[in-house]
Amino acid sequence: MTQEQAFTVKWGILSTGWIAHQFATDLAHAHNGVAYAVGSRNQESADEFAKNHGIPVAYATYEELVNDPEVDAVYIGTPHPFHKDNALLALRAGKAVLCEKPFTVNSAELEEIVSYARGQKLFLMEAMWSRFIPANVKVREWIASGVIGDVRTVKADLGFRADWNPQGRLLNPELGGGALLDVGIYPVSFASMIFGPHPEQVYSTAHIGETGVDEHFSLLLDYGGGKSAMLGGGVRLKMLEEAFIFGTEGYIVVKGTLVNPKAAELYIGGERAERFEDDRESIGYSFEAEEVGRCLEAGLTESPVIPLDESLALMKLLDLVRGQWGLRYPGE
Ligand SMILES: NC(=O)c1ccc[n+]([C@@H]2O[C@H](COP(=O)([O-])OP(=O)(O)OC[C@H]3O[C@@H](n4cnc5c(N)ncnc54)[C@H](OP(=O)(O)O)[C@@H]3O)[C@@H](O)[C@H]2O)c1
Repeated sequence: MTQEQAFTVKWGILSTGWIAHQFATDLAHAHNGVAYAVGSRNQESADEFAKNHGIPVAYATYEELVNDPEVDAVYIGTPHPFHKDNALLALRAGKAVLCEKPFTVNSAELEEIVSYARGQKLFLMEAMWSRFIPANVKVREWIASGVIGDVRTVKADLGFRADWNPQGRLLNPELGGGALLDVGIYPVSFASMIFGPHPEQVYSTAHIGETGVDEHFSLLLDYGGGKSAMLGGGVRLKMLEEAFIFGTEGYIVVKGTLVNPKAAELYIGGERAERFEDDRESIGYSFEAEEVGRCLEAGLTESPVIPLDESLALMKLLDLVRGQWGLRYPGE
C-alpha cells in the first residue's frame, strides 16, 4: 500500500478547550489520522483553533461539525456533564466517537451512549490515553510474562493542587467538579488494567470541600484472593504520581506519573532487572488516536484494549464510591 492509499482517519474536534488543544497538537504524531475539522460554540474560537493547528475547516456549532460528511471520527473534549449529549450528537450523525474521560458523569448516562452505539454498530471509545502509553504497554507485557509472579497489590495516586476557583470545572458541581471524576478514573482504570474492573469490596473516604465536591479521596479495592489496590486522587492536593505493582516474585515502578509515564522499571529480588524508556516526540495523545484508526481500519466497534464493558463497570464503580460519600451532581 502506498502512502497515498494508507488508511487515514479524518478527525473532527468537538470543542476548543485545553485538552482539545493537546489532542489536536498530538494528531501531528499519529500515523493514521489528521485533524480535518473543528467545531466550537462560536465561530471565533473555531477559527482561532483551526488557525493554530492548521485545520482546514472550522464550524461555529457542534451540529455542523458532526454533520460534515468528510469527518470520520469525532473527538469530544467538553467538560464531562456534556459528554453524553455531545457523544449522542456525533453518533446520531453516524460518526465514530472518542470521548474524553471521565466518559460521563454516571453509569446511567454511559449506558445510554453505549446502547445507542452498539445498536447502530458505531465505534465508541473512552479516551483513556494512559492505556496506550508505551511504558504502560510494557508493564502489561511484564505482568503477562509472569516475571513478577502473582500480582498482589497496586498503589497508585494522581493529584494536583489547582488554584481555588469555585466556578471552574474542577470544583464546580454544575461542571462535574471533583477529584474522583476528574483524576480518580486514572488510578481506578490503572488498577483495572491489572486486576479487572470488578473488585469484591470497595472502601473509600473523601474530603468534600466548600463547593460540595470531593477535593481529594482515598480508595481501597479488594479483589479477593489477596489482591488489592490502594488508590488516591486530588484536585487540591499535590500527590506523588508514580505507581507500584507488587507481585510475589518482584515489583514494577511506573515512573513519573501513571497517566503518561516515560519510563517503567522492573525489580526482581529487590534489584533492578530492567528499565523501559520511550523516546517519543508526542505528548502521549497520539497513541489513543492511533488505536481508534486501527480499530476503524479493522472494522471494530470497540477497542479490545479499553472495551466498553470495562468503561461501564468502572463508571458503576465510581457511582458506588460517590454513593458512599452521598455526593450527587445536579440533575442526578
Ligand atoms: N485526557 C487528559 O489528559 C485530560 C486532561 C484535561 C481534561 N480532560 C477532560 O477533558 C474535558 C475538558 O477539560 P478541559 O480542561 O479541556 O476543559 P476546558 O479547557 O474548560 O475546555 C472545555 C471546552 O468545552 C467546551 N464547552 C462546551 N460547553 C461548555 C460549557 N458549558 N462550559 C465550559 N466549556 C464548554 C468549550 O469549547 P467551545 O467554546 O469551543 O465550545 C470549552 O473550551 C473534561 O472532561 C476533562 O476531564 C482530559
